[in-house]
Amino acid sequence: NITPIILCGGSGTRLWPLSRAGFPKQFLVLSGTNSLFQQAIERVNGLAGSDIKVGETLVVTNEEHRFLALDQLRELKSVDARLLLEPVGRNTAPALTLAALQATANGEDPILVVTPADQTVIDSQAFTAALQDSVRTAASGAIVILGITPDRPETGYGYIKHKSEPGQHGEHAVVQFVEKPDLVTAQGYVDSGEYAWNSGIFVLKASVWLKALRHFCPDIAAATEKAWEGKAADTAFVRPDKTMFAQIPGESIDYAVMEQCPGSAFPIRMVSLAAGWNDLGAWDAVWNVSPKDGAGNTHLGDVLATDSRNTLVHATSRLVSLVGVDNLVVIETPDAVLVADKSRCQDVKHIVTELNQQQ
Ligand code: GDD
Ligand code: MG
Repeated sequence: NITPIILCGGSGTRLWPLSRAGFPKQFLVLSGTNSLFQQAIERVNGLAGSDIKVGETLVVTNEEHRFLALDQLRELKSVDARLLLEPVGRNTAPALTLAALQATANGEDPILVVTPADQTVIDSQAFTAALQDSVRTAASGAIVILGITPDRPETGYGYIKHKSEPGQHGEHAVVQFVEKPDLVTAQGYVDSGEYAWNSGIFVLKASVWLKALRHFCPDIAAATEKAWEGKAADTAFVRPDKTMFAQIPGESIDYAVMEQCPGSAFPIRMVSLAAGWNDLGAWDAVWNVSPKDGAGNTHLGDVLATDSRNTLVHATSRLVSLVGVDNLVVIETPDAVLVADKSRCQDVKHIVTELNQQQ
């Protein structure tokens, strides 16, 4: 039996100005008709089948976004879910720990399928098949990461060095895990052909996560367990103790545990995911996955353009017009407009940092 875990407490600053503190990117509809958050839930729940039972979905998000998450959950009528609310963000390791504690609360030890909420996947059948292999591999106690064949030296991802020969369920032994390497290192990894990207999707037993975290980061484990002991729960929401939670050292799953696993007592495996996976981290990625006109433009809302190529425009409240420009991103909202070179979309986060400093 599996428990889907949706991590959706991030802020998505590189998708400013559509992604805001009060309405972060995972709740935006950037492709199709569902938000990224809803897509993540439906993808994992698609795993339900004859031999796999999918239990209650655990959504871990910030207190501030509880109604946003609840409203979007209600639109997915058939999904049974519970919201675990963080008073402040402490990154993904404490978030997953809350979910693991909830999942084991009544003495069970389900396999957790942990997924970020900021991605799109084109081929849902291939996705489900990879998850099935991962669940079978995790059943024996392994930590499983879904890996993607890299096509560029992206520095915002984790890199997984793995053996080439697959095991019984198509899994590969992981030799090394490096989170967010610098550009030169990342280029070397891509050139070597021996590394995959970390999709950020993990499959492992709840008890294995708790054991690994207690082993590698006993301070994070102890502090999160304390906050959990002081929790308050009602029918829809579970809230860990606010004061205790704020004292947890912030760290991601990747740095806290995944980097430490290869060569340790915790077996770690990778299953390849070839399903048109995309992390919608920044505007250029949104352009990449969007339908385009013959000149490579994606224009949403009231947009008029002549002689422009490979542009992304979202107009939400006014007419936006372009004349003779290439590779431009224009995101128009009532109170803020972004104009950026499409190759510089990663730097949008600096604008948000500056805005936060001015406040
Ligand atoms: N509940 C909760 N609390 N969720 C969080 C928090 C938090 O404090 N911080 C981030 N998240 C959520 C985000 O909303 C997102 O869905 C997911 O956790 C991953 O966090 P990101 O901040 O987007 O991580 P990343 O993109 O820098 O890196 C991760 O994903 C890459 C693939 O997209 C890592 O796992 C990389 O190794 C990986 O390659
Ligand atoms: Mg991300």
